[in-house]
Amino acid sequence: MEQLLKLANQRPNFFTDILNSINDAIYITDKNGVTLWVNHISEVITQVPREKLIGRNVRDLEKERVFSPSVTRLAAEANSNVSTVQEVKDGRKFIATGHLVKDEKGEVIAIVAHCRDITEVVKTSSKLRDTEELLEKYSQELRKLKIPLHTTDLPPKKELILHPSTEDLIGKIAKVDTTALITGETGTGKSATAERIHLLSKRYNAPFIQINCASMPEQLLESELFGYKKGAFTGAHTSGKQGLIQAAEGGTLFLDEIGELPTHLQAKLLHFLQTKTYLPIGAREYVQANVRIIAATNRNLEKMTEETSFRSDLYYRLHILAINLPPLRERKEVIEDLAFYFLDTYNQKYNVNKRMTSRALDIFQSYHWPGNIRELENLMERLVILCDQTINEKDLPQKMMENQYMPDYMKQADQHNSMPELLESIERNMILEALKKEKSTRKAAQQLGVTQSLLMRRVRKYAIDI
Ligand SMILES: Nc1ncnc2c1ncn2[C@@H]1O[C@H](COP(=O)(O)OP(=O)(O)OP(=O)(O)O)[C@@H](O)[C@H]1O
Ligand SMILES: [Mg+2]
Repeated sequence: MEQLLKLANQRPNFFTDILNSINDAIYITDKNGVTLWVNHISEVITQVPREKLIGRNVRDLEKERVFSPSVTRLAAEANSNVSTVQEVKDGRKFIATGHLVKDEKGEVIAIVAHCRDITEVVKTSSKLRDTEELLEKYSQELRKLKIPLHTTDLPPKKELILHPSTEDLIGKIAKVDTTALITGETGTGKSATAERIHLLSKRYNAPFIQINCASMPEQLLESELFGYKKGAFTGAHTSGKQGLIQAAEGGTLFLDEIGELPTHLQAKLLHFLQTKTYLPIGAREYVQANVRIIAATNRNLEKMTEETSFRSDLYYRLHILAINLPPLRERKEVIEDLAFYFLDTYNQKYNVNKRMTSRALDIFQSYHWPGNIRELENLMERLVILCDQTINEKDLPQKMMENQYMPDYMKQADQHNSMPELLESIERNMILEALKKEKSTRKAAQQLGVTQSLLMRRVRKYAIDI
């Protein structure tokens, strides 16, 4: 220190020379933000000569966009040291820190701002982000090409027939690691979609494991999912057993029919989703796992949460990324694509070249497909095997012909097995149709031939949104 002071005494500009030799901006103001002194780099960065800065208040310079925001002002307002990213007129960015200089009493006597150019760093990291995005996009495209696309024991398929918006959503869901929930009636492609998300994701090389939560009793399901330690219960393997979460390490675990998960396992699953750790049966310590969960259900989970048969906190957690696959009867426009797609697939599988008349195709389009894509696919396989060269309307199952001229709500009849259920379904659908057509509930009631108050009672009973 003594030597330093000696040098300073010998050279009056010693300290300012030091500050000028630094490659970062040093900008000194009084406690009110009036510029007292700036080093050479400050002039270069702001593109304003020193004499035009000295004496000016940083607030005015900020208004003139010489720099924004002014870190000096921020530090003064916060009454403490502050760091921020500051931009100057030509768009260059700086990491700026405002330091308060205090006297022995703790009063601020000056503020020193120090700025370092990070334009290059920002450029490189945003370039890096762009490149990463592009890379991810290409690898997803590549994975799409490689996907064998089979979820059943069918031969490999070319691709899933998806609405562009669904395809887009699946791509986005595949990009991230968040839990996803797929909803839809039976046969709408929930399992196929889950597998596609996995195959398009970065986890594609790791296992995709699925389990149907409705397929076994509670205790068995718990040990299947979480595994158990040796000697956990009588009848347990002496060596213990790894659970499916462990088996899916690095990959995806697909929980089908999640609505059937018993309450106590719902709590265990929620814990896993929140902490990525779980307790195998009989174990004392939590085990970590890196597994993405995708769940599916054909039940109305939201309604189940109201009836308290499904935990609402788990529902919200699962619902972050939700994808609903509409039933075929609501997507009549894809029936033709699917029909030809499966015709082609099974023609290839059985090495034949069957065709379909346009009349038969019309009936395909007007049928309501209670079993959705699975039903259409299975029927097409049967037709390709059994029909002569051309698939005619007479080759189609009787029920498809019978249903043809029925209104849509009647077509759903065979999904219901009891008379009250069927009648309710018809009633609900008639109300829906009438409400769609008529602007007011009064007119809808008139059309249905009931009083408005009866209509309103039914609207509440069936939880219809009006
Ligand atoms: N978008 C699609 N394009 C082509 N084939 C599809 C599509 N979606 C589903 N499939 C096929 O339809 C059949 C039924 O699909 P999947 O098993 O995924 O339905 P699901 O909704 O899981 O049914 P469930 O509720 O009964 O489990 C499968 O053979 C599947 O490959
Ligand atoms: Mg399924």
